[in-house]
Amino acid sequence: MAQKITSAQVQADFDDPVSVVHYARAAHFLGLWESERRLIARFFPDCTAPLLEAGCGAGRVTLGLWDLGYRDLTAFDFAAEPLDQARHLATERGAAAIRFLHADATQLSRGADNQNASEPPGRGQVDCATPGPGYSGALFLFNGLMQIPGREGRRAALRGLRAVCVPGAPFLFTTHDREHSPTERALWRLEAMRWERGEQDERLVEFGDRYFEDEAGRTFMHLPDRTEILADLAATGWKPEFDALRREVAAESRAVREFSDECRFWLVRNP
Ligand SMILES: C[S@@+](CC[C@H](N)C(=O)[O-])C[C@H]1O[C@@H](n2cnc3c(N)ncnc32)[C@H](O)[C@@H]1O
Repeated sequence: MAQKITSAQVQADFDDPVSVVHYARAAHFLGLWESERRLIARFFPDCTAPLLEAGCGAGRVTLGLWDLGYRDLTAFDFAAEPLDQARHLATERGAAAIRFLHADATQLSRGADNQNASEPPGRGQVDCATPGPGYSGALFLFNGLMQIPGREGRRAALRGLRAVCVPGAPFLFTTHDREHSPTERALWRLEAMRWERGEQDERLVEFGDRYFEDEAGRTFMHLPDRTEILADLAATGWKPEFDALRREVAAESRAVREFSDECRFWLVRNP
C-alpha cells in the first residue's frame, strides 16, 4: 500500500530544485497579482502595521508588499530552500528589513504561548523562531494553507494564525474551489465515484486532495468546496467577511493565469 502524503513530503517537494526555481522566478518577475493588489489595498490599509505572511516561499508576496510600502513584515515558510531565495532577493532589492522565519504554520500556537519567541530575530535573517503574538494582519496566499495535508493540520494552522493575530486583525488567504466551473464539478463527481469504489490514488489523505507533477515540480493540494472552508473557519474562530473567485476581483494578465489557476479569495477577521 502506498504511503499517505505527509507534511514532510510536502516540505521536501517545495525544497526540490524544480519547485524552487519555479517560485523564485515568480518572485523575481511576476510579483503580486492584480487581484491580490486590490484586496491588500482594501483590507490592509495601514502600511505601518505589523503583518505576517505564511508560506512566503521565494518571496513573491512579501516583496510585493514591500514594494507597496509595507515596512513591518515578517514572512515564514517551512521549506528552507525557497526561504533562502526570499532572503537573498530581499537583500538584493534593499528590503533586508523583512524578517524571515523558518517555521511551520501548524505549530504557531507554540510561539503564541511563548512570549520570548515574539522578540524579532535579527533583521534580514532566516531564523528558526516561531512567530509570536501581536500581528495586525496575516496572509497565506496562493493556496499555501491548502497544501497542508489533513483537515486537522489545516485547522491547526488556522488556529495558530489566529493566536498570533490581535483582535480585529484581517487574514487573507486563497483556496481552490471544487465547484467553480461545470467542468470541475463533473470531474469531482467522477472522483467521488472513485472514492466510493476505493479506487482513488492511495497516497491521498482525504476526498478533495490531489497530488500531481508538472513544470512546477510535485504538488500536493487539497481542493475544498465553500462549505468546508466556512466550517473550518467556524471551528477555529475566524469570522468570514468577504469571499470571491479571483475572476470576480480582477482580470489577470496572461502571465498570472499561466502561473496559477482560478482560486477563491477569503478575507476573515479575528473577532
Ligand atoms: C504555492 S506556494 C506559494 C509561495 C508564495 N507565497 C507565492 O505565492 O509564490 C505555498 C508555500 O506554502 C508553504 N507551506 C506549505 N505548508 C506550510 C506549512 N505547514 N508551514 C509553512 N509553510 C508552508 C510551502 O513551502 C510553499 O512555499
